[in-house]
Amino acid sequence: MCGGIAAYKAVEVCRGLVDAGAFVSPVMTRGATRFVGTVTFSALASEPVRITLWDEPEPIPHTRLGQSADLIVVVPATARLIGSYAAGISSDLLTATLLATRAPVLLCPAMHTEMWEHPAVVDNMARLRQRGVHVVEPVAGRLAGGDVGSGRLADPADIVAAAVAILSVPADLAGIEAPATPGPVAVPGDLAGVTALVTAGGTREPIDPVRYVGNRSSGKQGYAIAAELAARGARIILISTVELAVSRGIEIVRVETAAEMEAAVLARAGQAEVIVMAAAVADFRPKEIAPHKLKKGAGPPEVVLEPTPDILAGLGARRRPGQVLVGFAAETASGESAEGDLRSYAHQKLKTKGADLIVANDVAAPGVGFAHDTNAVLIVGADGYEAEIPLASKAEIATAVVDAIARTRHDRTRDMRPATNEEQP
Ligand code: CTP
Repeated sequence: MCGGIAAYKAVEVCRGLVDAGAFVSPVMTRGATRFVGTVTFSALASEPVRITLWDEPEPIPHTRLGQSADLIVVVPATARLIGSYAAGISSDLLTATLLATRAPVLLCPAMHTEMWEHPAVVDNMARLRQRGVHVVEPVAGRLAGGDVGSGRLADPADIVAAAVAILSVPADLAGIEAPATPGPVAVPGDLAGVTALVTAGGTREPIDPVRYVGNRSSGKQGYAIAAELAARGARIILISTVELAVSRGIEIVRVETAAEMEAAVLARAGQAEVIVMAAAVADFRPKEIAPHKLKKGAGPPEVVLEPTPDILAGLGARRRPGQVLVGFAAETASGESAEGDLRSYAHQKLKTKGADLIVANDVAAPGVGFAHDTNAVLIVGADGYEAEIPLASKAEIATAVVDAIARTRHDRTRDMRPATNEEQP
């Protein structure tokens, strides 16, 4: 906790975290103690409040706190704290702990609008976001002194939900409403500064104003991948046909048809270092869309289909240098050599689509693919990479997919580096 009027709301956050099953170690700045009493936090957390580096029985409290934490939540984060943390300056126990941790950090800023919008604070926040720090953005509302504007601390329930999501605790276990971000944080910040474009859901191709040709995709796997990429620091543009819960900061573009998805993807592909085509894009669409509802009395309509543009193959044909392109292959590869089928389909798709990675699944297998919360996939790379993930949650599959993306990016950067003497044979 830092010193700001919103410190009183940190009481609610502390209680929410304890209720969700967290073990909370309260650390306050001297300023925070002017707004809320230490006894409140020590009673809620059943832990003594720590304030300074000096009057502890243990000589180096910051390193113990930093090393033992699974997550550090700063609420409220003041302009001073944000500035010190961005600059790497440790002036008290809180800033020293932030520098002495490798755990994910969640900042919950709160300050007057003028301070929140000051270029120094804006720059510091951008720097921290680049480093993979998680942020629960302040909201607009009443501020200290009766002013109204942006900079008001987010709702304590949203802060607790964000903390739970970062730690990837299932919401029902934590006893809270489903958090916005379901993805786990495997390697916080390893994709900081990367822009990733993800597509999700199945496209709907209209026959008339009320009917469409569609598929069974729920969008859950695409959303899980977007959440995992975001948790690892990437900026996300999610182009989706469905609306599921997402964490703040994920930009969502709603589309319906393959043509709309293609337009949305192509307009943004140039910004993206990573593109994941998790959407089930219809391969064919009705050639003509009836302007009025087709009436039953007119007898069964003849629906003539025409091919849709292959978005992934188009991206593969004109990708920007260094871009990592990931496609999906939903197959029904059952039979005696189902696995062999799946592998050969996946390798075929690597070539036809010009992708770096193909994530293939056998949607006929039990618990796999559409509408399930689980999936089982084979990930193959154009560089010979292969990983087989047996039945697992879609969040776990997302981790494996993002690991493969991070690895491809890493290998590519290494290949692009000039060889040093050590690396020469
Ligand atoms: N895809 C796409 N545009 C399309 C169709 C598919 O971008 N019009 C993308 C999907 O998002 C997915 C991958 O291509 O990443 C899977 O394609 P799929 O439709 O399964 O393969 P096909 O090319 O249709 O091959 P087949 O029908 O032989 O399986």
